[in-house]
Amino acid sequence: MQPIKLFSFVLATLAATPSFAVTITQPSQLTTLTYDYVIIGAGNAGLVIASRLTENPNVSVLVLEAGVSDQGVILAEAPFLGPTLTPNTIYDWNYTITAQTGMDGKTFAYPRGRLLGGSSSANYCFHQWGTNEDWDRLAALSGDPGWAWSNMRNYIQKHEKLVPPADGHDTTGQIIPALHGTHGMLPVSMPANNQTIDPRVLLTTQQLSAEFPINHDMSGGDHSLLGIGWVKSSAAGGVRSSSSTTYLAAANSRPNLTVLINAYVTKLIQTGTASRKAFRSVQFKNSPGTGTSPAGATVVVNARKEVILSAGSVGTAQILQLSGIGNKNELQTLGITSVLNNPDVGENLSDHTLLPNIFSVRGDDSFDHILRSNSLVGDEVTDWVTNKTGMFINNVVNNFGFARIPSNASIFSTTTDPAPGPTSPHWEIITSNFFFSPGFNIPATGSFMTVVAVLLTPQSRGTIKLASSNPFDHPLINPNYLTKDFDIFTMREAVKAIKRFIGAPAWSDYVIGPYGDSFIAATDDASIDAYVRGLMTTIFHPVGTASMSKATASGGVVNPDLKLKGADGIRVVDASVFPYVPSAHTQGPVYLLAERAADIIKAQNQ
Ligand SMILES: Cc1cc2nc3c(=O)[nH]c(=O)nc-3n(C[C@H](O)[C@H](O)[C@H](O)COP(=O)(O)OP(=O)(O)OC[C@H]3O[C@@H](n4cnc5c(N)ncnc54)[C@H](O)[C@@H]3O)c2cc1C
Ligand SMILES: *[C@@H]1O[C@H](CO)[C@@H](O)[C@H](O)[C@H]1NC(C)=O
Ligand SMILES: *[C@@H]1O[C@H](CO)[C@@H](O)[C@H](O)[C@H]1NC(C)=O
Ligand SMILES: *[C@@H]1O[C@H](CO)[C@@H](O)[C@H](O)[C@H]1NC(C)=O
Ligand SMILES: *[C@@H]1O[C@H](CO)[C@@H](O)[C@H](O)[C@H]1NC(C)=O
Ligand SMILES: *[C@@H]1O[C@H](CO)[C@@H](O)[C@H](O)[C@H]1NC(C)=O
Ligand SMILES: *[C@@H]1O[C@H](CO)[C@@H](O)[C@H](O)[C@H]1NC(C)=O
Ligand SMILES: *[C@@H]1O[C@H](CO)[C@@H](O)[C@H](O)[C@H]1NC(C)=O
Repeated sequence: MQPIKLFSFVLATLAATPSFAVTITQPSQLTTLTYDYVIIGAGNAGLVIASRLTENPNVSVLVLEAGVSDQGVILAEAPFLGPTLTPNTIYDWNYTITAQTGMDGKTFAYPRGRLLGGSSSANYCFHQWGTNEDWDRLAALSGDPGWAWSNMRNYIQKHEKLVPPADGHDTTGQIIPALHGTHGMLPVSMPANNQTIDPRVLLTTQQLSAEFPINHDMSGGDHSLLGIGWVKSSAAGGVRSSSSTTYLAAANSRPNLTVLINAYVTKLIQTGTASRKAFRSVQFKNSPGTGTSPAGATVVVNARKEVILSAGSVGTAQILQLSGIGNKNELQTLGITSVLNNPDVGENLSDHTLLPNIFSVRGDDSFDHILRSNSLVGDEVTDWVTNKTGMFINNVVNNFGFARIPSNASIFSTTTDPAPGPTSPHWEIITSNFFFSPGFNIPATGSFMTVVAVLLTPQSRGTIKLASSNPFDHPLINPNYLTKDFDIFTMREAVKAIKRFIGAPAWSDYVIGPYGDSFIAATDDASIDAYVRGLMTTIFHPVGTASMSKATASGGVVNPDLKLKGADGIRVVDASVFPYVPSAHTQGPVYLLAERAADIIKAQNQ
């Protein structure tokens, strides 16, 4: 298989419609260089903060975003086309990870959204909260009971707006409505376009109910994540809901909110005293930021109250280090003056993995036949554009599940359980009705289904460090995948469990067998490990590079109120502050985190 992009031809069939954003594109359009708050990154978290802070018309906010507008970008609007937005497009940062010692020296693309909404505009629309134990562990680690689920659950009502599926079907048994918000900011919904494998997945939960029980709500929080059920999507009426289409859209006409795109932040500038440092000024370059030395004016803006750093797990670690905030010795080696020594900046990178287990199947009901035909894809595009119908109104996946490895598994004699608690999952299973392997094209012939395995509780920890002092050089991203025994053990067990799943009678007249030489050969532990190390990639959930810890702790990057340790006027609000990756897809946890962060900021700046 050659590493070319998933349904790359879809890109060619669609042209983005013209932008009509009310955002501005040039620093000359700024009427002032001083605001109450300057937010770095118009991403998932950044736009929640911008929206909540400007609810008060007396508060002025500037948001700086390096990327482009999302307005009229059909690829970002049609949920099924999420996987076409990355990697290596004008909507992506185009990162590549360093050679992975746990993966035979492999490297691969590491997508991050680079448009309004950030990764919430480029993701695959799975929407969850994480488990109650994820949040309770965060509360215990940070010493702040406000991060416990008993408090965080209150933000569901502000955030979530559950609406009927686009086809209006009865969702009884697919979701428990009482657990959801109905008047919040972000419309979510259940699948509208059934995949032909869905009934077989549900039948498997009956035939193998001990190992793969049905779960009637897959959001987490107040309801267990264990079992198999239906995916809830950040989408409604066949259109993606991102932080841009929701939180920003609600705030965009407020006179005291300014959003500047093409604004590539290059550093924070120290504004405090030598004895008490502060960072209330931000330097950026007006430029799309492509190339290592792009043209464009350099501008400095100031915050009266605070700078909020919301550039994501990669961007935040990079900007802190470019500002001299990080490991003093490492920065000095690169010729960067150390301003605030903190060796934990860019450490503790933690991510979920994605292993696409592909099966050859009978018949031609899989989506492969549509996706490899330009004319059939064109029909789907027409349906979506004219009537918001057809398969593109849906996520790429309808069913998924969460499972634990058994408590008597041999690995627990040599390591403690990394799950946040006894009812949180170790791994995830995702079923999809076609050849779904990010970075690889659908083969020219054949019908397929993909059963993805995800490691949810990795022990491996990586780093995001600067390659040079040039802010336009990509940072060195090293997730250190599969470098701990627990991680490869759990992936191996997941592959075995997926084989048991597919062994259910429900699949006997459908699945022909594993696809691909290494999967076919993966019959004993050693060959399963080789298969995993050779094929695994990311499911795009990096966290931890600006970890939260107790206010009194010597380690960590931010305090429980998300203020940078050892400085004033600067806070980090994005996925980078999670010390452990939640046991779920991460956009929902980021939304809840940002909602509470907005409350903390408001309360501390009365
Ligand atoms: C391809 C993909 C698929 C995913 N699928 C799912 C899914 O289905 N479900 C789910 O829950 N999660 C998913 N995720 C993960 C989820 O989207 C992220 O965890 C979450 O959106 C991160 O939010 P954030 O606010 O931390 O960062 P982001 O949303 O990435 O925001 C960071 C913003 O800062 C900007 N920025 C960065 N550096 C600079 C700079 N120097 N100057 C100015 N601006 C800057 C970026 O352009 C971006 O807009 C996916 C992610 C990706 C990339
Ligand atoms: C905004 O400021 C005005 C004038 O100081 C004040 O009367 C008003 O209460 C303020 N509004 C809010 C929401 O703080
Ligand atoms: C709100 O914006 C207006 C127009 O840009 C400006 O004159 C005013 O000072 C702003 N208010 C605050 C509180 O910054
Ligand atoms: C990413 O790669 C694409 C395709 O080569 C390119 O068009 C885009 O400008 C790149 N993005 C950045 C931020 O360099
Ligand atoms: C999809 O499947 C669900 C559950 O089996 C069912 O309730 C719904 O009617 C189906 N929708 C369509 C459009 O077939
Ligand atoms: C859109 O819906 C209308 C009314 O139901 C129908 O006449 C038309 O054929 C549909 N268009 C497409 C492209 O499906
Ligand atoms: C774990 O327990 C189950 C059921 O009690 C048993 O079947 C299995 O063999 C045990 N596994 C190990 C590794 O001991
Ligand atoms: C980073 O990870 C290590 C190992 O898991 C842990 O000991 C340390 O406390 C973590 N630091 C932070 C700041 O989370």
